[in-house]
Amino acid sequence: MSTLTDTRNRPLRDLRISLTDRCNFRCTYCMPRELFGAEHLFLPKRELLDFDEIERIARIAARLGVTKLRLTGGEPLLRRDLDVLVARLAAIDDIHDICLTTNGSLLTAKRALQLKTAGVNRVTLSLDALDDERFKAINDVGFSASKVREAVDNAVAAGLAPVKINCVIQRGVNADQILPMAAAFRHTGVVLRFIEYMDVGASNGWRMDDVVTAREIVDTLRTRYAITRAPAAQPGETANRWHYDDGAGEIGIIASVSQPFCGGCTRARLSAIGELYTCLFGVHGRDLRGPMRSGANDAEIAALLAGIWRAREDRYSEQRGEQTAGRRDGDGDGRVEMSYIGG
Ligand code: GTP
Ligand code: 5AD
Ligand code: SF4
Ligand code: SF4
Repeated sequence: MSTLTDTRNRPLRDLRISLTDRCNFRCTYCMPRELFGAEHLFLPKRELLDFDEIERIARIAARLGVTKLRLTGGEPLLRRDLDVLVARLAAIDDIHDICLTTNGSLLTAKRALQLKTAGVNRVTLSLDALDDERFKAINDVGFSASKVREAVDNAVAAGLAPVKINCVIQRGVNADQILPMAAAFRHTGVVLRFIEYMDVGASNGWRMDDVVTAREIVDTLRTRYAITRAPAAQPGETANRWHYDDGAGEIGIIASVSQPFCGGCTRARLSAIGELYTCLFGVHGRDLRGPMRSGANDAEIAALLAGIWRAREDRYSEQRGEQTAGRRDGDGDGRVEMSYIGG
């Protein structure tokens, strides 16, 4: 295993690969319609990394210490022949975990099985409300919550376990869905995770007041259920794990605003056009596609990647406190959008 570490002694372990900047949802906190309407210019297809290029970067990253790949977007299932790519990634030595983050709209029973067969271990689906009208208003394309629940069932049936559900909580939007969501997924083996709303990108008009903190989420859950904090399963993981005391299963809270986890952050992100970001809150990525397309060999790409990681200093969430004090709410300072870089 490579001992490549950054300036804060963090190894490179996870590579999150964005397969497209497109999505068929317009979640108000991620791709608001006013900014991602008919006139929005998405990346043209020729700009996207092809499967050879993605596999090549993943292979080189694996030699530098990456063991886990997460496929994201936009919506990764919009990428045609995804299972072909997955099979190629799964064949890379030292890659032990291949996960997919999806909105579930295209996760049919057939597709779930294809992905499992190709080598996806597990999937995480986004579902921000159980109530249909509320969920339709959040995704802003009228997609119903019950259809996402069908996709969850498809994932479970295909053995893409443990299936997780991400639920981003915003004050005044869906905080009242915490208890209904918890009730729906207790006893199912599906791991529900509530996420503090983050100030990613520049387009969602984020304000600190909109954040429902982990503390508040726990207090809400405890009005109905006894829950106990569980130890981390792996170092550097995003979610705080909790268990229902009555044995109904696990529940997670991703507290990146109120309890940043930069200290253990081993994640790099690859945009759909091959820029490497060393933080979710990056402003600029470093181009890997250019050198690849102009003939760089593997050793040269590896040296480039290693150099970027060695110089890494990022700890945005830890610094947010000081930074937000000095800037206007909703001012993104040029940060890259989440739909572009992947969650
Ligand atoms: P597991 O491997 O199942 O633990 O998944 P994950 O939590 O790494 O990934 P997922 O795509 O489900 O992300 C869940 C939430 O955590 C999303 O809102 C992500 O944007 C957020 N998240 C993931 N990685 C990071 C990170 O490095 N920094 C911050 N601030 N948030 C992150
Ligand atoms: N804050 C927190 N989570 C977000 N996601 C998208 N935008 C935000 C945000 N501003 C979530 C998505 C998806 C995951 C990858 O990130 O809902 O579940
Ligand atoms: Fe919603 Fe995810 Fe699509 Fe963003 S990428 S609009 S959060 S479904
Ligand atoms: Fe990692 Fe940046 Fe997230 Fe901190 S804010 S955990 S450094 S991606």
